[in-house]
Amino acid sequence: MINFEIIKSNDGSDTLRNSILDETYHSTHGAIQEAMHVFIDAGLQYLIAQTQIEHIKILEIGFGTGLNAFLTFDTIEKFENLSIDYETYEKYPIPLDVISKLNYLQKINQSDILLKMHQTDWEIKNQITKQFSITKKQIDLLEHQEKKCFHLIYFDAFSPNKQPELWSLEIFKKMFDNLEPNGVLVTYCAKGQVRRDLQASGFRVERIPGPPGKREMLRAIKPEIIQQ
Ligand SMILES: C[S@@+](CC[C@H](N)C(=O)[O-])C[C@H]1O[C@@H](n2cnc3c(N)ncnc32)[C@H](O)[C@@H]1O
Repeated sequence: MINFEIIKSNDGSDTLRNSILDETYHSTHGAIQEAMHVFIDAGLQYLIAQTQIEHIKILEIGFGTGLNAFLTFDTIEKFENLSIDYETYEKYPIPLDVISKLNYLQKINQSDILLKMHQTDWEIKNQITKQFSITKKQIDLLEHQEKKCFHLIYFDAFSPNKQPELWSLEIFKKMFDNLEPNGVLVTYCAKGQVRRDLQASGFRVERIPGPPGKREMLRAIKPEIIQQ
């Protein structure tokens, strides 16, 4: 059984440590800071600035604490004309009593929305607000076969050192096939092998500055015209 230990990261926001993998859910340099930098600024805000899409479809690998989902909701609220369908895969959902102890609930406005995201049913689409829906799927990414078209993927699996099987060429090809042309995948990881496997899957990959404590992160873009 997984034991979740609450840890305070350097920006004051909590994260969890998964006892089986001995791995934290976020950077210990700053959980909220990392999520904002990697997924919101380099992913969502980048996509909004680059495209005219008004109804954005996002896939997240690893729902975890729901922090990325909440920050996405919080960001989109500032754009009246935009809405989001957020889909997220999670093999090991975190119990609500653990989530309720995280200090995000004191740090964020509208903490009821984060709780609601956790309380809603799995496997169905839940309309949280007019602008934001969430579909949580309790599935193993390794077994997932469905093909859909997203505009943005938050690739937030545990690190390749702990879960190398989730950072394979095969998985990245799956991610590529699940993106619209010009779709974007962002990840905190900047490992050379990950970058090369993303490129081998067809992505154009950018190394961009990482959040505090990490020199670089990766942003991968699916080209409009796919080279055969
Ligand atoms: C780095 S954490 C994600 C943090 C999360 N995005 C957040 O904001 O809290 C990685 C997540 O991937 C999940 N996970 C691990 N193996 C998985 C698998 N095979 N398929 C789907 N999810 C998996 C873990 O349970 C964990 O919640």
